[in-house]
Order: sequence, then structure tokens, then C-alpha cells
Amino acid sequence: MQQESIDRLQDLKSQLLATRHASDGWSMKGLQKEIDELEFYKSDKHVVVTGGAGFIGHHLVEHILINTNWNITIIDKLNYASKGFSRLRSIEAIFDDRVTIFTLDFSQPLSEGVVEEIGDVNYILHLGAETHVENSITDPKPFVMSNVVGTMNMLDYAKTLPNLECFLYFSTDEVFGPAVDKSYAEWDRYDSGNPYSATKAGGEELCLAYGNTYRLPIMISHCMNVFGQRQHVEKYFPKIIKTILEDKTLEVHGYPDGKKAGSRFYIHARNVAAATLFLLKEGSIGEKYNIVGQKELDNLELAQAIATCMDKELKYKIVDFHSDRPGHDLRYALTDNNMKELGWETPVGFEESIKKTVEWTLENREWLDE
Ligand SMILES: NC(=O)c1ccc[n+]([C@@H]2O[C@H](COP(=O)([O-])OP(=O)(O)OC[C@H]3O[C@@H](n4cnc5c(N)ncnc54)[C@H](O)[C@@H]3O)[C@@H](O)[C@H]2O)c1
Repeated sequence: MQQESIDRLQDLKSQLLATRHASDGWSMKGLQKEIDELEFYKSDKHVVVTGGAGFIGHHLVEHILINTNWNITIIDKLNYASKGFSRLRSIEAIFDDRVTIFTLDFSQPLSEGVVEEIGDVNYILHLGAETHVENSITDPKPFVMSNVVGTMNMLDYAKTLPNLECFLYFSTDEVFGPAVDKSYAEWDRYDSGNPYSATKAGGEELCLAYGNTYRLPIMISHCMNVFGQRQHVEKYFPKIIKTILEDKTLEVHGYPDGKKAGSRFYIHARNVAAATLFLLKEGSIGEKYNIVGQKELDNLELAQAIATCMDKELKYKIVDFHSDRPGHDLRYALTDNNMKELGWETPVGFEESIKKTVEWTLENREWLDE
């Protein structure tokens, strides 16, 4: 722990002692919370983030750098979606002494030399995966290799770490399949609508098995649709901005009647990163947590909200993509009781998150290049 944090901790502890005499309860709670957080976030920990060059992964890396003193090891094979190191360069993580990067493919077991170099680890945040649904429909095999075999390799590596406190697997709301008129709870059955979801469910089930069989400290999060700065333009949010900028007509995926658009719950990547650190501190090993989106919007409402932020008109048509190409579910939904019970509140509001993302993207248009 750095001297500054040690001093602050001592100061808080003496305040807490003094408050105990006054014993008004309220102040003690606030002080105790601050002490707990300081002891947790400012301790000397080492976290491995797989997929750290990817979209959510780099937001998580940035969030950990800002909010903790932990050292970070990133494992990423740099596929097309990583856009090389450009995200890590953009947040200056690549130049940070606390960050070490291994460019390797975990669909092969980690080599002895790499394991030795990484050293002792407290947390593994396993985000690395093939993620684009459309690609999984065209060719499922790379998804099986990275998301199922790769997860098994990361779990086997985790088994060798004596001080591992948590292996957190990033799953998705898509494993539950379409949620036409209901919301799924953490332990509901899977019903994969496409190969991507099936491989995410496969990885998730392997995590549970390693928890049960080898007593690995597993935790699982299901996340909904994430947006934010530096998202790959193949995803819907940046695609809307690009289409509007180019004055083209946006194809909005909808129901066969051509009147109603499909919908998603959306959450900003930094809110997901904050939820992830919160889970490491407050969550229980062996449990699953739904990180729900802040707001449900149909595909058209989202496009209109973005057009309003850009102060531009939206040209669109609703297309029945789904009858021709099954595999794209029209609605996903999750319940959030587990996170609520822990006291989780999303730090940055939805409207502010959208505004910040749109404004940033307009100022950094190179991120809209294919
Ligand atoms: N984006 C979303 O809306 C969303 C929603 C729910 C869950 N998730 C999950 O969150 C995680 C991160 O998603 P994202 O949107 O940041 O994805 P992304 O595609 O932007 O990043 C994934 C990263 O993983 C790396 N990777 C893939 N296979 C690898 C392998 N075999 N070895 C090493 N590195 C590998 C890629 O190079 C890439 O940098 C994924 O597990 C995804 O399933 C994403």
C-alpha cells in the first residue's frame, strides 16, 4: 500500500475510534465504509484481465488504474476487434508501469514461461472472447475455440494459483435466449439463440464445474448491452452515429410486421467496470450476478436518442432481418435482485452516458473507421 493511503487509513481509524465514543451510528457507518474501501482498493493486489485490449476490457483496465493501486496483467491475442493496442494507447495504459501485457492466444494453454512471468495473482477477470454474433453465425469454430476451450485453459491456469481470490467470468444476457415478455434471473436455464451465446453458456458452465470440482473461487456476471467510447463500429451504437454522419438510411431490426423495433437494455462500459470492482469486493464466491442495463430502449428509440444528441435528423427503415436470418433475438431482459441486495447503484446515469459517448465519438471520428 502506498504511504499516502496508509496515512489516510490511519487518520480514518483514529476518527472512527473517536466517533465510537460519540456513538451516533451514522458517522461510524460512513467512516467504516471508507476504511473498508481504502483497505480493499488501495491494497497491493495483482489482477489478470483477459481481453484487456477489447472494448469493455480497456474500460475496465482504465477504471482499475484510476480507482485502485493494483497491478494489472493483460492477456489478449489482439484479434480484429481489439484494434491492436489503440485503445490501451488511447487511455495511456500501455505506458503505465503498473500494466504488463502478454499478446497470446488462450485457446492454447498458457506456457510455463508466461505463467512464471505473470507470477502470483489475486483476481482473474475473464473477458477475452469472440463476441460478434454475426461472425458466430457465419463460422462458429473460432467461438468454440476462444470462448469454450479458451475458458477451460484459463481455468486450468487458475488452478495453479495458490492465492487466487476470485475468477470472474463475463457472461451475457444472451445465454438465456429471447425474453419476449419476461426477465431472466441469474440461475435460469440457458436457451442459446446463436452460436455466440452457446459458447458463452459453455464457458459459464465450465466455470461452475471447476468451482464444484476443484473448489476454484468462481463468480459469474451476466451483462446486458454495453456501449461507450472506442466501441468497434460493427456494433449497433457506433453504427448509428456513423450512418447519421454519412446521411444514410439506418436499417433498424424489428418484428415481422415491420412496425415494431426489437429492444435491448443498455449500460455504459464504465458503469460495467464499476460494477465489476464492486462485485470483487461485495460479491459471494459461487454466485452469479446480473449487471442490468440502465434503460430499455427499442432499436429505433436508441437511434432517435443518438440523433437528438447529434442534433441531426434520423433516416431509417424497420427491417424484418430475423425471419431471413434467425439467430438475432429481438429482446433480452434480466432481473437485478442479487446486485440490489448487495446495495449496488449505477454511478453514472443513462442520459449522461449517452451524451458523453456521442460527444466523444464525434470528436474522435477515427473510431468509426472499419
Ligand atoms: N459488448 C457487450 O455488449 C457485452 C455484453 C455482455 C457480455 N459481454 C462479454 O464481455 C466480454 C468483452 O466483450 P467486448 O465487447 O469487450 O468484446 P471485444 O470483442 O471488444 O473484445 C474481446 C477481446 O478478447 C480478445 N480475445 C478473443 N479471443 C481471444 C483469445 N483466444 N486469446 C486472447 N484474447 C482473445 C480479443 O483480441 C479482444 O481484444 C466478452 O466476454 C463478452 O462476451 C459483452
